[in-house]
Amino acid sequence: MGFSRAYSDYTKQACCQSITIDRSNRIRSAPHNGGHVSKRESLGIKRLHSLHYYVRDLERMTRLFVDRLDFIEVGRSSAERTAAGRQQSVAFAAGDAVFTFSAPLDDTARAARFLNKHPEGVGTIVFEVADCDHALKVIESRGGTPITDVQTTTDDNGTFRTFSITTPFGDTTFRFVESEKYDGLYPGFVKTAPRPNGNSFDISHIDHITSNFPTMAPALLWMEHVLGFERYWTVEFHTDDVAGDRDHGSGLKSIVMWEPESGVKFANNEPKRPFFRRSQINVFSEEHRGAGVQHTALVVKDIVTSVQTLRERGVEFMPTPDTYYDALPERLKTCGIGEIDEDIEVLRKHGVLVDGDQDKAYMLQIFMKEQASQFNAPEAGPFFLEIIQRKGDQGFGAGNFRALFESIERQQVAEGKVSPS
Ligand SMILES: [Fe+2]
Repeated sequence: MGFSRAYSDYTKQACCQSITIDRSNRIRSAPHNGGHVSKRESLGIKRLHSLHYYVRDLERMTRLFVDRLDFIEVGRSSAERTAAGRQQSVAFAAGDAVFTFSAPLDDTARAARFLNKHPEGVGTIVFEVADCDHALKVIESRGGTPITDVQTTTDDNGTFRTFSITTPFGDTTFRFVESEKYDGLYPGFVKTAPRPNGNSFDISHIDHITSNFPTMAPALLWMEHVLGFERYWTVEFHTDDVAGDRDHGSGLKSIVMWEPESGVKFANNEPKRPFFRRSQINVFSEEHRGAGVQHTALVVKDIVTSVQTLRERGVEFMPTPDTYYDALPERLKTCGIGEIDEDIEVLRKHGVLVDGDQDKAYMLQIFMKEQASQFNAPEAGPFFLEIIQRKGDQGFGAGNFRALFESIERQQVAEGKVSPS
């Protein structure tokens, strides 16, 4: 049974089941409800509100998000707020995807405290909740650690309520806001434009947030027991699965947690032995200096046209070897997708990846280069953006781990760098 076939079998099951693929590709399926954990009282999360990203340089983020990705600046910190927080903040939006960027004015700023320990990255994940008092009470009763009590601000825009908690996501905090009665993003932010209905790429929302951990068990248990998230799916992959015994390789283990009411999804990765230190997840942890958010996926309507335009605007994507596309027609058959709407040569031209496991149900994805490469600035860090278009598949591109690895192996064989195994 192939990797994608197995994944297909999983996705046909309820979400409380997981599939683990071991190194011999055998499938182990197990209930994923944590056994003793009963249905927990909901926190009342309504949606992902925004991501707060701490940077040294606001201007280059404006170039990427506004000039290239066509986000619109919807607000910026007022002079008073900038002076009080010792950081300049600006918010960009496309559809429901909102990013706030803060750059420190001095070492006392929250942004500076993050940046003194890490390269640029996501320092706060913000959720909209129905009732902050309720969410704080539930979180605290389950052992969560609030940084603040619920803070209520009333100004000309209405009433805004918020509190924050610490997390096992390194120095990334979670913030909960109650802003349905507030006409604006945050108190202290001056609105610079109305929230856009869309943008030229039809970016609609953030599909998922992916984080990397030296070990993810504490974060998974915390999400389950403190926040009430549930396991969505599990996959493991190691290059040894394909290449056999080698003196090198790379692997990862990935578990997606979700909040069923809001649909918010967090993918979580840890390195997988052998060669733990070579795992891209470990490389991230070393570059980021601890656990943190690795990427977020932006949903678009037409990925091929979007990628073409983004490339014309100077956005750089991770390259995909030609051999991936040479093997794609056969892979589409074996993984069960069959026919796709797109011309494979067009996907090859733009470097867009395909994954899925059911007849004519698939997703298309591509990864931008990490910010350090995108900006040619090491301090910009290892965070990157994914662009995704869903056409019936709700997975995360796990089949591409194997397909990409196999295609790189074929390339290396073709170039005489390694012997055929
Ligand atoms: Fe992703």
